[in-house]
Amino acid sequence: MPAVLFVCLGNICRSPTVEGLFRHHVAQAGLGDEFLIDSAGTGDWHAGSPPDPRAIATASRRGVSIVDLRARQITEPDFRRFDLILGMDRQNVANIARLKPADATAEVRLFLDAGLGLNRDVPDPYHEDQTAFETVFDLCDQGAAALLARLRERAG
Ligand code: 4NP
Repeated sequence: MPAVLFVCLGNICRSPTVEGLFRHHVAQAGLGDEFLIDSAGTGDWHAGSPPDPRAIATASRRGVSIVDLRARQITEPDFRRFDLILGMDRQNVANIARLKPADATAEVRLFLDAGLGLNRDVPDPYHEDQTAFETVFDLCDQGAAALLARLRERAG
C-alpha cells in the first residue's frame, strides 16, 4: 500500500482530522500494518502543537482520537518518503508544488479528487465556528473512506 501524507496549512485542523479518520478506516479494514500515514502543514506556525481543540472535540464525539498528534511542517524528505502527498485545498496543492524538490518521487494531488473524484476543497475552518469543523469532519470522513477504497482497488 502507498505511503500517504495529508497536508493542510497549519496541520492543526484539517490534515490531523483526516489523518485520524484514515487511520481509523485502515484499522477497521484490518490493514493497520500496511500503511505509512502522516500529516503535515505547509506552514510552521503551529509546529509541535496538538490539533485545534475544536478539531479534537469534533473527532472525539465521532469516536476518533487525534489528541496525541503533533503538528509539523512538510520537509524535503517527505517528497521521497511518501508515494502520495494530498493537499486539503487547491492553495495547499499549489504551495506543496512550490516546495517540491527536483528529485521528488511523490505524486501531489488534491485530497477530495484523489478519493472521491471531486475537484473541491476541504474549506479552512480555523477562523470559522464549530459548524465548520463538523462540515470538515464529514468531508474528511467521506474522502478518507473513498481514498482507502480506491487504493485497495488499485493494489488489487
Ligand atoms: P488547517 O487550519 O490548515 O486546517 O490546520 C489552519 C490552522 C491555522 C491557521 C490557518 C489554518 N493559521 O493561520 O494559523
